[in-house]
Amino acid sequence: MDAGDMDGDLAQVLITEEEIASRLDAMAAQIEADYADKDVLLVGVLKGAVYVMADLSRRLHRSVPMDWMAVSSYGSGTKSSGVVRILKDLDADLTGRHVLIVEDIIDSGLTLSWLAGNLSSRGAASVRIATLLRKPEALKVEVDVSYVGFDIPNEFVVGYGLDYAERYRNLSFIGTLRPEVYHH
Ligand code: PRP
Repeated sequence: MDAGDMDGDLAQVLITEEEIASRLDAMAAQIEADYADKDVLLVGVLKGAVYVMADLSRRLHRSVPMDWMAVSSYGSGTKSSGVVRILKDLDADLTGRHVLIVEDIIDSGLTLSWLAGNLSSRGAASVRIATLLRKPEALKVEVDVSYVGFDIPNEFVVGYGLDYAERYRNLSFIGTLRPEVYHH
């Protein structure tokens, strides 16, 4: 869906489809260079990372394996606790593998900080993170991110995988919603 399909819910386009595509080109080129002599396993975190994974992985000039995890913090009000529960684990054995976690957004950093530690502890040879978006002002823990698409302000954003109440994930750009949308 696009801006015209938003029924007036859109406040602002933050990052256009073209800007996303061009950053993904650059990120893919960097990843190719960094992993030139290594096999890499892409690990996506459901559900938001589906679009980034699809578009980033298709820019790599090699056949690359990918695997998926689903995680959730305990309870809805405790996201800031940093306690993460695995809802769907990886199929792959990580022993000796070079893992690249692919994410849509790093907000507080708690999920990714926990996840990177968890995957490292499984015997991966290396664990790096690629994220399309990062909110520097929202960070609560230091996360070592190797590939960042865009640093964005601490605003609620939707689109390109990011949802509000499971809506707007299939929007082709990143945008903000009008305040009224949250009030019904
Ligand atoms: C988002 C995102 C990360 C996490 C980042 O997922 O995909 O996994 O939040 O937030 P943090 O840095 O504050 O930990 P979300 O929980 O919205 O799930 P979803 O991808 O299924 O929408």
